[in-house]
Amino acid sequence: MISSAFALNPDLTARLEKALAPLNLSLSKAGDLATAVQRQSDFYINEPTGRTPWSDRWCQTAQISYYLPLNFLRASRVMREAQRLGFFEGIRSVVDFGAGLGPVQLAYEAEVQSPARFSVVERSSEAIRLSRLLGLEFDVLERPDGKRADLLTASYSLTELASPPEWLFDFDNLILIEPSTRQDSRALLELRKILIDRGYQMWAPCTHQEGCPLLEKSPADWCHDRLHFDRPEWMLAVEKRLPFQNPTLTLSYLVASRRPRPSTKQTVRTVGDLMREKGKARQMICRGPEREFFAWMARHGEPQEIPRGVLCEMPAGESKSNEFRVQSPVAHT
Ligand SMILES: C[S@@+](CC[C@H](N)C(=O)[O-])C[C@H]1O[C@@H](n2cnc3c(N)ncnc32)[C@H](O)[C@@H]1O
Repeated sequence: MISSAFALNPDLTARLEKALAPLNLSLSKAGDLATAVQRQSDFYINEPTGRTPWSDRWCQTAQISYYLPLNFLRASRVMREAQRLGFFEGIRSVVDFGAGLGPVQLAYEAEVQSPARFSVVERSSEAIRLSRLLGLEFDVLERPDGKRADLLTASYSLTELASPPEWLFDFDNLILIEPSTRQDSRALLELRKILIDRGYQMWAPCTHQEGCPLLEKSPADWCHDRLHFDRPEWMLAVEKRLPFQNPTLTLSYLVASRRPRPSTKQTVRTVGDLMREKGKARQMICRGPEREFFAWMARHGEPQEIPRGVLCEMPAGESKSNEFRVQSPVAHT
């Protein structure tokens, strides 16, 4: 179930240690790791369109010990949701574009029940070397080829391209994960429109094929999900030395396919956190082209705590403007 807690499993921790050992580092060296993470963060801020400097020791350190685990968790959440929807039926081969150190493949292997053969398209030979050190096995391709694989995945790598590449549309199945910034996420929602025009069905997070209310109804909104996870001790020790923390993780994603989305009783998804206001509590939902909220009136008691990003059945209640006033418990995944 997508709402259950996520964690870094012992297998992944062992892989991280193995990849850090040649750098004379380990997850217990919080000071060294924090210095590298700080430098990588500065790089992302100062050079947002710059190429990841994979050959620098500090970059390798930061990527192995921090950015890989976080993107593994993000990808795990998406894989788990796609798996729940039956998305991986018939998927035997995957191309991961801009694979980096392979968080998508690691998440796939941890979450998806049916195995698939992986190929990567990755311009950094250093990243490829490190992901092999992490124990991943894959073929390396020069460019994505939709005729040779069932699924294309791209995590935090479309954002490095100026416009959606034509080869994307050669794949029948897509899993795209992007940073949850307003700019990247809205670019992904623009891509959603193109994908729908070109015959794709949205499997997740969207519950419909109509216009996205977060894109079309407000210039300030963007669709992003939040996941809760248990930070291990070594990560807490690193973050204690940093000016930023990631107690929860956000992400924007699309799971799309040329296959029809299976119909389900759960026709609405929570796309916001619960907000307590005077006299009521509201939570943004998505079930069509309008910006809508579940609303619980304070006079009827405490609101239901529904995790963000889960699918729900429509409860009993009544619509009032952009609110659906909930009058029965909401069943959700
Ligand atoms: C921000 S990293 C993301 C890595 C990984 N997918 C993740 O989720 O952590 C983007 C990766 O895409 C790769 N990349 C960007 N453009 C590429 C291209 N045109 N061809 C191959 N690799 C590319 C970069 O080398 C980098 O490793």
